[in-house]
Amino acid sequence: MIKKPMQDLMNEQINKELFSSYLYLSMAAYFEDKNLPGFANWMRIQADEEREHAMKFYDFILERGGRVQLKAIEAPKTDWGSNLEVAEEVAAHEAKVTASINDLYELALKEKDYPSQVMLQWFITEQVEEESNAAQVVADLKLIEERGTAVLMLDKQLGKRQAE
Ligand SMILES: [Fe+2]
Ligand SMILES: [Fe+2]
Repeated sequence: MIKKPMQDLMNEQINKELFSSYLYLSMAAYFEDKNLPGFANWMRIQADEEREHAMKFYDFILERGGRVQLKAIEAPKTDWGSNLEVAEEVAAHEAKVTASINDLYELALKEKDYPSQVMLQWFITEQVEEESNAAQVVADLKLIEERGTAVLMLDKQLGKRQAE
């Protein structure tokens, strides 16, 4: 059975993943408003993935006889100064999520909670990918310096991204 400190921290993580989903959905709406459906597609897919992350913790807590307790989700920002600002916020946000996954893993090590360690390894790998994807979009946007035709090309490229 899952121990209370791990259950509490995983419940916090469910909230963080759901907030990530909400934040990315807000970013998708921002891009839709700017007529950038490809960028919006990228953020929508991210939003769906974050909800799946929340559900992985949700199901794991239940599977181990724990209690899921949902908390209030903070309102996300709705406006940004530029496309680059959004991408940089995604990158910074993913780095914060990585830090909280690492905290969970530290706790799992301390408590010799082997099932949680195995489960969290999936998230550790996932965060490497998430951080790398966000960094790529930041790098692309810096390179093109928001020149119209180049932004449109990147929009087409991001429009092709599909859920995994
Ligand atoms: Fe996530
Ligand atoms: Fe993420």
